[in-house]
Amino acid sequence: MAFKYIITKLIKENSFATPKGAALDLGCGKGFDTLFIADEGFDVQAVDHASSSLDAIKKNNSNIEVLESKIEHFSIKKNYYSLIIASFSLQFLSKEDAKKVIQDMVDGIVSGGVVIFNVIGDRDAWADRSNWHIWDLEEIKKFVSEIPNAKLRNFNQYEGMGDTIKEGLKYWHVFEVVLIKK
Ligand SMILES: C[S@@+](CC[C@H](N)C(=O)[O-])C[C@H]1O[C@@H](n2cnc3c(N)ncnc32)[C@H](O)[C@@H]1O
Repeated sequence: MAFKYIITKLIKENSFATPKGAALDLGCGKGFDTLFIADEGFDVQAVDHASSSLDAIKKNNSNIEVLESKIEHFSIKKNYYSLIIASFSLQFLSKEDAKKVIQDMVDGIVSGGVVIFNVIGDRDAWADRSNWHIWDLEEIKKFVSEIPNAKLRNFNQYEGMGDTIKEGLKYWHVFEVVLIKK
């Protein structure tokens, strides 16, 4: 459950406009990605509505700014971050809120910076959970292709059995998107 492999690749390929700048992790959880990004030299802000997760991050790295907030209520500063990520968190928002947050993520990035997020696909075993929203392939492809000021750098679809935090193995169907701000 981490974007470490994508971010490592992007850093190696010098994909960031400014190699080390401000970064934002939306729905950071206990900070798998947050801590990695901080170790890479980014100044990281981590947002989650669960204060216990934020406390765990702070204990690991006191330089990380933790912010207790709903993702959909958090105001993303415009043209400020080199990197904004949302890993396995946007599915908990309504689709309308998730669409707005994704646009705000792009608006929050400096030119040449990177946005990475994933959303859940319609073949996921938990697709009909009432607290999740899902996408089908055509819908997510169309949505990301129409985001102004962003170039689609990577689009990955993967599915198969995988672990969950608390409920053992399940069938995952996930779309992963990497955008570069124009
Ligand atoms: C499955 S975890 C993913 C954590 C981390 N991003 C990762 O990939 O390991 C989802 C996280 O999103 C947070 N979350 C869910 N809905 C949220 C919301 N509306 N606003 C803020 N955080 C939310 C949860 O508290 C949880 O920490």
